[in-house]
Amino acid sequence: MVMKVSGFAAHSATTDLAPWSFERRDPRPDDVAIDILFCGVCHSDIHNARNEWGGAIYPMVPGHEIIGRVSSVGAKVTRFKVGDAVGVGCMVDSCQHCKPCLRGLEQYCAEHSTLTYNSKDPRDGMPTYGGYSEKIVVTEKFVLKIPEGLDLAGAAPLLCAGITTWSPLRHWKVGKGSQVAVVGLGGLGHMGLKLARALGAEVTLFSRSPGKEADARRLGAHNVVISTDPAQMAAVKGSFDLIIDTVPMLHDVNPYLPTLALDGTLVLVGYLGPLDPMLNTVPLMMGRKSVAGSAIGGIEETQEMLDFCGKHGIVSDIEITSIKDINAAYERMLRSDVKYRFVIDMASLQV
Ligand SMILES: NC(=O)c1ccc[n+]([C@@H]2O[C@H](COP(=O)([O-])OP(=O)(O)OC[C@H]3O[C@@H](n4cnc5c(N)ncnc54)[C@H](OP(=O)(O)O)[C@@H]3O)[C@@H](O)[C@H]2O)c1
Ligand SMILES: [Zn+2]
Ligand SMILES: [Zn+2]
Repeated sequence: MVMKVSGFAAHSATTDLAPWSFERRDPRPDDVAIDILFCGVCHSDIHNARNEWGGAIYPMVPGHEIIGRVSSVGAKVTRFKVGDAVGVGCMVDSCQHCKPCLRGLEQYCAEHSTLTYNSKDPRDGMPTYGGYSEKIVVTEKFVLKIPEGLDLAGAAPLLCAGITTWSPLRHWKVGKGSQVAVVGLGGLGHMGLKLARALGAEVTLFSRSPGKEADARRLGAHNVVISTDPAQMAAVKGSFDLIIDTVPMLHDVNPYLPTLALDGTLVLVGYLGPLDPMLNTVPLMMGRKSVAGSAIGGIEETQEMLDFCGKHGIVSDIEITSIKDINAAYERMLRSDVKYRFVIDMASLQV
C-alpha cells in the first residue's frame, strides 16, 4: 500500500523544479505520518538539485527543514499523537547499532544514515523524497518535537541551519567567555550568530558584504569584519576560539587561520571538497590550531537545540515563499538576496 503525494521535483541538473506527484509508503508500526506546513530552503537543496555533489537521484524532491503536524501514528509509536507540531531534518533513519549511532551521532552512521531526500530507504529500497511536498512518513526516532510558542515557519530552518551551527558550538564547548566567529551571513551564518550569542559567547561575523553589518549586529554579532579588507583581518589576529565557516563555494581558508587564538579551531560546514589553495601549516603549528569539519547534528542534540530555542525564543529570520516561486528563490539565494532563509508555505501547493 502506498499514498499519493504531490510536491515539486527536479528532473535533471539543468531544468527548473516543477510540480510532480509521487508515492510514499503507508506508515509502518513505528512511523509517524506528517502533513507538511512549512519547509525551509537550504543551499544544499541547490547543490543537490543541480548535482553539484554528484550522486543525484531524479526525480528529486528536495527539502530537509520540515515542519508539520502529525496526521497519524503507527501502533508502536509512543512519543507523538495526532495534531502534534513536529519537525524533520536532514535524516530519516540510520542503522541504530554502529558506534556513532549508539552515541546519538546518527549523522556519522558507519552504514550511512538515510537522508531525507536523494537517498534510498534500506528497509524497502524506495527512494526518499523531501519536504517540498504535502506529506511525509518518518520513523518515530527521527521525528523532533517543536516546543510550544515557537513560530512554526520560523522554526523550519532550525532543522538544518540551526543544528548545523549548534553542533560545532556544543562540541567545541562554546559558552560565556568564548570568542566565536562565523564566516558568511546566510541561512547557516545567521543561525550561528543567534545561537553563539545566546550561549553567551562574544560573537564576530566575517563577511564579504559590507551592507550586512547592521543586520549582523541585530542578529547577535558584537563585531563585523570585512574579510576582503587586510587591515580588518589583521586587527583580529589571534582572537577566536572557534570559527564556523559556512561559505558554500571553494574559497581560500588561509586568511582566517591567523585570526584563531591558541588552540583555536576553524570548522568547515559549508564547502565540500578539496581546498585550493592548500592549507598553510605554519599558522596551524604556531598556536596548536585545528581545521575541522562538521555535518548537521544527531537527533538528540537536534532536540536539545530545539528546546534551547524554545526557551530563548529563537527562530530563523525568514521570507515566506510560494512553492511556485521556488526557482526564483534559488536564484536569489545564489545572489545572497534573502534575509536570511526562504521558507515555503506548503499551502501554496494547493493554490
Ligand atoms: N555541514 C552540513 O551539515 C551542512 C548543513 C547545511 C548546509 N550546508 C552547506 O553550508 C553552505 C551554506 O549554506 P546556507 O544555506 O547557509 O547558504 P546561503 O544562505 O547561500 O549562505 C552562504 C553565505 O556564504 C557567503 N558566500 C556565498 N558565496 C560566497 C563566496 N563565493 N565567497 C565567499 N562567501 C560567500 C555569503 O555571506 P556573506 O555575503 O556574508 O559573505 C552567503 O550569504 C552550503 O554549501 C550548504 O550546502 C552544510
Ligand atoms: Zn540543509
Ligand atoms: Zn549507524
